[in-house]
Amino acid sequence: MKLFVDTGSIKEIETIAALGILDGVTTNPSLLAKEPGDFRQNLKRICDIVKGPVSGEVTATDFAGMLQQGRDIAKIDPHMVVKTPLTRDGIRACKQLSGEGIRVNVTLCFTPAQALLAAKAGASYVSPFVGRLDDISTNGMDVVREIVQIFDNYEFPTEILVASCRHPIHVVEAARLGADIATCPPAVIEALFNHPLTNIGLEKFLKDWEKAQAIKA
Ligand code: G3P
Repeated sequence: MKLFVDTGSIKEIETIAALGILDGVTTNPSLLAKEPGDFRQNLKRICDIVKGPVSGEVTATDFAGMLQQGRDIAKIDPHMVVKTPLTRDGIRACKQLSGEGIRVNVTLCFTPAQALLAAKAGASYVSPFVGRLDDISTNGMDVVREIVQIFDNYEFPTEILVASCRHPIHVVEAARLGADIATCPPAVIEALFNHPLTNIGLEKFLKDWEKAQAIKA
């Protein structure tokens, strides 16, 4: 399973990329708005760091505006993926842009029915938001499970990009279900590393080693 980081922060992306386990980046207008500077230059810099798929989202809500912005975003770098929202115009734009060879990530997906529309429109990725579903007492992972089943039934090539991951269990569940990608904020990626027994075990190994060296000296 691929692991993406969900942030617009170049500093955070550099830190996570240095770990050697990063496959791509997702951004959205809320995340990019937090980063100073020109968003196109920032996205270009992110592509140079990650050398993998980087999602940049359109902010237009009409078909023509989405096409214009989508083509503009795609020109930033060959790694760019255009994010369109799961609206009627967003699905139309996905179909058109995908037909032009531009990779599209259909975002703000909350149901298997919506994911099916994204797949039919030729999306390269569809992003179910598991955390936001959990927030409203609906199991986000149930939606992912159904999408996996539907895509397997018809061998849709659209990759399932589990978004709005809030904790490591979301990542593990996404992997168990066979989702293609999990995108997580940097804090969740950091949390994947952590277990108290790892720290306790390492501390003991090093202490035992030092003790033995002192005796030999
Ligand atoms: O980028 C889309 C998604 O991952 C947002 O997550 O935590 O704002 O629901 P969140």
